[in-house]
Amino acid sequence: MTDRILTVRMEAHPADSNTLDRYEATGGYATLRKALVEMSPEQIRDEVKAANLRGRGGAGFPAGVKWGFLAPAEPRYLVINADESEPGTFKDRQLLERDPHQLIEGIVLSSYALGVNHAFIYIRGEYARPARRVQRAVEEAYDAGYLGENILDSGLALDVMVHLGAGAYICGEETALLNSLEGRRGEPRLKPPFPAVEGLYAKPTIVNNVETISNIPWIIANGGSAYDAIGPEGSRGTRIFSLSGHVARPGNYEVVMGMTWREMIYQIGGGIRDGNELKCWIPGGASAPWFTPAVLDEPVTLDDAGRLGSMLGSGGIVVMDETTDVVAAALSIVKFFAHESCGQCTPCREGATWLERILQRIVTGHGREADIGLLLDVCDNISPGLRWPPAQTTICPLGPSLVSPITSIMTHFRSEVEAMIRHAEPAGV
Ligand SMILES: Cc1cc2nc3c(=O)[nH]c(=O)nc-3n(C[C@H](O)[C@H](O)[C@H](O)COP(=O)(O)O)c2cc1C
Repeated sequence: MTDRILTVRMEAHPADSNTLDRYEATGGYATLRKALVEMSPEQIRDEVKAANLRGRGGAGFPAGVKWGFLAPAEPRYLVINADESEPGTFKDRQLLERDPHQLIEGIVLSSYALGVNHAFIYIRGEYARPARRVQRAVEEAYDAGYLGENILDSGLALDVMVHLGAGAYICGEETALLNSLEGRRGEPRLKPPFPAVEGLYAKPTIVNNVETISNIPWIIANGGSAYDAIGPEGSRGTRIFSLSGHVARPGNYEVVMGMTWREMIYQIGGGIRDGNELKCWIPGGASAPWFTPAVLDEPVTLDDAGRLGSMLGSGGIVVMDETTDVVAAALSIVKFFAHESCGQCTPCREGATWLERILQRIVTGHGREADIGLLLDVCDNISPGLRWPPAQTTICPLGPSLVSPITSIMTHFRSEVEAMIRHAEPAGV
């Protein structure tokens, strides 16, 4: 391990790390006590801006800049996105289960900074245990005076509500999430207006990911410039990656970005299982275009991933070894998106089903020569030009997400798709 890599294998939490006692015993809520007395809301906003903290939910938008867009109308809301449905991503789950008070302290600090008196934690329906732990932690925080009226005698009032979704991937998209929270169908809204101007109940709303807000206590305790000194420019701070697939040591790892993909897969992930060769990997959740060993020595940063035609997205890295049938892998991802398409936009609703059917017939040995052109044509109707970053004919980026696995296999493994269609034995299966 090079000393540039700070790695915390996240399962090293003590068994009671979710409790208020443990959190307070390790310095928890000390930052809040101090900040409510010594800092103005504007000072907190300035520290978050100086930290150059980029959102951990997928798009990597700078949190401080987003906070600056919050319109002055009252009331304003803070919504924590704990939907975490992107295949290959399981970091928020661990933060919710093992460190819920860190998130709550981040919520109170952020709410104070943003002039918010009502915050919501929207948790995906399948996360029963994380939701129980968060609910329990919220109750503990009320009892201890960290939530409710007149928090720590500061005059600040904040209510936090935990809301369990019904288990739809699309409700991770921030405006679909807001619709779902309001009791409507979980369908994305047209933007603009952005939530910071017109969000929950048409009021100014900040939506941030669990990991993003979990960074706030550290930033306020140590200062934005200290956070901004960690990691390479554009990818500041530590970040949790969920490493899965064919690596020897899958898990959540908190790292300073900037190491190479080789270090990520072979040192942090322990290399490929059974001594097999690496074939490719998904660098940032199922929506992200795939990487191949050609970029193993490139740095793991948000901007470098973008330059190379993909993204770090939600931080879910899925590694595939030489035994992987990549066409079947692409089908599996397309099936997921087809199932999760909300159906609002025709190119996504219809295109998803088309893509699934075509891939399905290729994988089951009924592919046609024309299918490659047809696949790409359907993809082009969803994401014109098939370029990166993607264009879209849909309201939200779920449409282009469908396209990523297909352009990935067409770019890197076209001969395998052709071999399947011609009933030749696909390589590496
Ligand atoms: C289809 C779709 C699904 C998404 N799912 C999630 C999710 O599960 N969790 C999340 O934090 N962000 C998700 N996002 C991103 C959110 O829309 C939003 O950008 C994010 O919550 C903002 O928080 P951040 O700035 O802290 O990253 C999703 C986006 C799309 C288009």
